[in-house]
Amino acid sequence: MCGIIGYIGKQDAQSIIINGLKKLEYRGYDSAGISLINDKNQVIIKKTQGKIANLESILNHKDNGKIGIGHTRWATHGKPSDINSHPHVSNNAKFSVVHNGIIENHEELKNMLVQEGYSFASETDSEVVPVLLEKYNQGNLLEAVRKVIEVLQGSYALCVISSDYPEEILVVRKESPLIIGLGEEENFIASDIPAILEHTKKIFVLEDDEIGVVSAKGVVVYDSQGKLVDKKLVKVNWSLETAEKQGYPHFMLKEIFEQPGAVRKTLAGRIKEGTVNLDLDIEVDKIDKIAIVACGTANYAGQVAAYIIQSRLRIPVLVNFASEFRYMNPLVDENTLTIVISQSGETADTLAGLREAKSKGSKILTITNVLDSSIPRESDYVIYTQAGPEISVASTKAYITQLIALYLFILDFGYRKEILNKELVASWLSELEAVPEKIEEILNRSEVLEGFAKNIKDAASMFFIGRGLDSVSCLEGALKLKEISYIHAEAYPAGELKHGTLALITKAVPVMAIATSKKLVDKTISNISEVKTREAITYCIAFKNVRDIKDVDYLFTLPDIIDELAPILTVVPLQLLAYYTAVLKGNDVDHPRNLAKSVTVE
Ligand code: M6R
Repeated sequence: MCGIIGYIGKQDAQSIIINGLKKLEYRGYDSAGISLINDKNQVIIKKTQGKIANLESILNHKDNGKIGIGHTRWATHGKPSDINSHPHVSNNAKFSVVHNGIIENHEELKNMLVQEGYSFASETDSEVVPVLLEKYNQGNLLEAVRKVIEVLQGSYALCVISSDYPEEILVVRKESPLIIGLGEEENFIASDIPAILEHTKKIFVLEDDEIGVVSAKGVVVYDSQGKLVDKKLVKVNWSLETAEKQGYPHFMLKEIFEQPGAVRKTLAGRIKEGTVNLDLDIEVDKIDKIAIVACGTANYAGQVAAYIIQSRLRIPVLVNFASEFRYMNPLVDENTLTIVISQSGETADTLAGLREAKSKGSKILTITNVLDSSIPRESDYVIYTQAGPEISVASTKAYITQLIALYLFILDFGYRKEILNKELVASWLSELEAVPEKIEEILNRSEVLEGFAKNIKDAASMFFIGRGLDSVSCLEGALKLKEISYIHAEAYPAGELKHGTLALITKAVPVMAIATSKKLVDKTISNISEVKTREAITYCIAFKNVRDIKDVDYLFTLPDIIDELAPILTVVPLQLLAYYTAVLKGNDVDHPRNLAKSVTVE
């Protein structure tokens, strides 16, 4: 995820910024850059794809400015490259800007600016900002920034320097964090506390639409109406290690709590007037079959999609683990759309599955989180999830955003194929837009899952049972528990228990039942009775107001949502259950034994 640092004061800005960027490395990035105003009052920019070490190798140590900004980029618009890295500069080379977030109307702004004679070097959304600053500059940087943000749509944390105003850094934010750190005759700016923690623990936290004018002597903050804001000083009492996790004890928990924001970002700009806008030019009329290929958690996202594609779109769909698909001589052809799902975009089996489908003439649609990784590079169409870097090995926010992307695809594809009508699409979309608040509501009750975890932590084995889409959520819940708590977990379609595995149920085997399907809830309740009769302690995830479910030992309720979208909510308590269980067992949550984040070998 992108990171920002800025400095103005008496010290060498270049070394402070480079050290700050290093403190942001844990967030994941693909390129880095720095901009200074040197003692000749020139804007200097050095930026490069790759690690901060690459950036250091191209720095000129004689660039001894006292004011500068730096950035680590995690590509969203425009592949990772030197030119797409930040900072970006205006045509007249006077304004330099770093940006976190997404400027949703960048195409429109770019077209307008090009018509006015401005040019663009990069493929990024961010470059419109320095160019707009040049256009609106009339001798007052604060005014120019105000005019720019009036025309921006989307989210941003912006940090601006200019050779016309070498005594100040302008900062502004909307839906993307930015803090100002206070020093003695020097001040700092950062997207994240760790970047400046070694210099100061006194900070101002910028709120949405506030603009800060930061000089060496002081900081002035204005609200959106231009009124001075009396900012409250916040004293940070974090260690550097805690700060990288923003106060969370593990990346996994941080990432679970980032899910509402990740869903919002994945939806951003993709819903227009009750329809989906994914910019995919798939020839839908030619497609008569869908294949879905992925591994692990990504495969379970695919299984959710397959269920809905079959039940709602009535299109034959084949879903398989990539490691199997690649060797099974799969039944795909030029009329098949193969959907490849991979958080990292680098999983070796998934890439091989893609190539197998392609060799049979299938078109490839990839859903991935990492821009320009190997899998999207070999695909015909791509939907990027906007989860930001996922550092914990256990996948959480990547799964939820894969589901969101898949729902958007199904609605778009079904509508364009004239299978789904406009009313249905609009109603699902408005439900999707309400998902972030519903996840927040679940997260606010996370201590309930911590309580469940205390009960199950000593179990040797646990069952997850459900029907329909709930049985797919069981797969993900069981995988999460196995992966980080090392408790054996079995996910089973609830109706299948009596065909063999009921023999394993005893009072020592807790059972988690997922019962969100309104159509199948009574059947699942019967299955809960079957395991209760065998003395199992029962846990259940269900919607509120489901009468009979009170009979389980422990119930966790979900905010209401249409059945087919329930997997998005169901997974959150399952993630938390696995997380708290692993913590209670003293396991290395973010780095479970024997596992790697990106599996680039067969
Ligand atoms: O990067 P990918 O999505 O291709 O990774 C696929 C699986 O390795 C991954 O989802 C794995 O199952 C997770 N660590 C589970 O939490």
